[in-house]
Amino acid sequence: MCGIVGYCGLRQASDILIDGLKRLEYRGYDSAGICVGNSGLLNIVKRKGKIKDLREVVPLEFKGLYGIGHTRWATHGEVNDTNAHPHSDAAGKVAICHNGIIENYESLRAILTKEGIVFRTETDSEVIAHLVSRSYKGDLFEAVREAIGLLKGTYGIVVVHADEPGRIVGARNGSPLVAGIGDDEMFLASDVTAMMAHTKQVLYLEDGEMIDIRPSGYTISDAHNREVEKKIESITWELEQIEKHGYAHYMQKEIHEQPQSVLRAIQGRFNREGATAKLGGLNLTPKELLNIERVKIIAAGTSYHAGMVGAYLLESLARIPASAELASEVRYRNPIVEKNTLYFAVSQSGETADTLYAMRELQRKGATVLGVCNVVGSTIARESDGGVYIHSGPEIAVASTKAFTSQISVFYLFTLLMARTRDLSIEGGLGFVCGLESIPEYIGKALAQKPKIIELAKKYAQAQDFLFLGRGINYPVALEGALKLKEISYIHAEGYSAAEIKHGPIALINEVTPSLFLIPDDHLREKVISNMKEIKARKGPVIAVCVEGDQEVMNIADDYIEVPKVHELFYPYVMVVPLQLFSYYCALELKRNVDQPRNLAKSVTVE
Ligand code: F6R
Repeated sequence: MCGIVGYCGLRQASDILIDGLKRLEYRGYDSAGICVGNSGLLNIVKRKGKIKDLREVVPLEFKGLYGIGHTRWATHGEVNDTNAHPHSDAAGKVAICHNGIIENYESLRAILTKEGIVFRTETDSEVIAHLVSRSYKGDLFEAVREAIGLLKGTYGIVVVHADEPGRIVGARNGSPLVAGIGDDEMFLASDVTAMMAHTKQVLYLEDGEMIDIRPSGYTISDAHNREVEKKIESITWELEQIEKHGYAHYMQKEIHEQPQSVLRAIQGRFNREGATAKLGGLNLTPKELLNIERVKIIAAGTSYHAGMVGAYLLESLARIPASAELASEVRYRNPIVEKNTLYFAVSQSGETADTLYAMRELQRKGATVLGVCNVVGSTIARESDGGVYIHSGPEIAVASTKAFTSQISVFYLFTLLMARTRDLSIEGGLGFVCGLESIPEYIGKALAQKPKIIELAKKYAQAQDFLFLGRGINYPVALEGALKLKEISYIHAEGYSAAEIKHGPIALINEVTPSLFLIPDDHLREKVISNMKEIKARKGPVIAVCVEGDQEVMNIADDYIEVPKVHELFYPYVMVVPLQLFSYYCALELKRNVDQPRNLAKSVTVE
């Protein structure tokens, strides 16, 4: 969602803030602003649009050694210069940037209005600036502490005061905040990418904590205002991992990185002697693994689709009842936590509010929840009872791609582990290990279909509607293909089980509504071919993603994309890659902003 950055030190703050915001732009990109403090004054510039628009309007004389900045994903109030952060109090002495939602802002606004405050924006966030100002008696930390005591909702905030040069106060409740430690300088941000160019020494704040930074150091305190000693962590990512490396878009780069990112997810995680997987972070003994009777996976969006693949695998190979559910639905239906059920919370960012809150609710009821996250040190990774990092490296494009193939990799490993504690033989286990180890190479072969996919994108990008159809383990892949296409090209697309279309969606079929079928050579192939013929009989255009050389399918479909033959349980890897490429090239054809699609943002930290 929104991105926050703060800096105090010996260098000019505006450059550091704007560079930090540029790195955070993938989190929200409808407007942005910075506030820089100098000689008892706070100077604020904010602009609707991208960071480059903001950069253009920051005056050269915008000098000062401390400040805060924000890139916005609007929740309350339209997208315009005024509603952009930072927000200040009436006297222009206090400035704040906020990520999250203040749920009681209307009642606070009414109280402040009665006291004579005139609000300038439509945002929920502006109340924070006025509350801090009202409480300020010469100590910014105390004023912020008093102000946040009145807030209900979620926030990651950074606050400065004109009379306290070099000081920034931050507070966290439900929206991430991380501090970076430099030499005579300190940083605050909603995620580490904003400060990676300057420091790799970071401190992750927990909910309820506040931080007080100055160039010379920091103090952290908890909700009871007791000082907290925190372990300094080192960021393991390299800055060059968040560069584009010659690709036109991050999404393109991330799609092409998948042979390596999948390798990173699986390497070092096999125990060949035992023909099984080793996942140390699970914190579960073989006995505890054996006692698991059910697995439930909670997640949102692409991560949910990965969870569906995981559930299918666990049932089919490890023979453990497993299901995936939308995290947003789990939390509010008073979930029943059964004994011997293991939960997974899957989240690339590790910050998705729906998944985090569902996880907390399950934990409150006594569940063991393991995290499957990409971002090291993220809230879900820290609060889960154990888990596995997917090691994709930073995923910057808003549309998730490489995280999906790495998330499913973790489920392939976990399935192997569970299957080996049950019925799978040593030979079966070794066969599975070999299959998984060859996946990076097969993903490379699927990527080689690019020229054909570019051609098809040119042919089909003008379609108004699209159906994506698959079955079995490839049904979630069809859902993922539809999600990718609508997200970045804005073509309306639906994913269905190929068997399900005759129960309704077939009414949509006409000469201009294409259907994309996933047809591996698995046990459902004949049935999917029949479904494809039903579409052809109604003159619907058909694209088939099929196994190389499958002449029967190629003869029926109008167009086809060939993928390499793999064991039937591994098809999600090679089926999803052409769908990612297809959505990417359709979006290019339609001249969409691929990395920053309309209305979306990476890391959805509001419910
Ligand atoms: C799709 C996409 C979203 C995310 C969803 C969950 O391309 O990016 O659907 O998958 O918001 O995000 P994480 O995995 O960070 O919890």
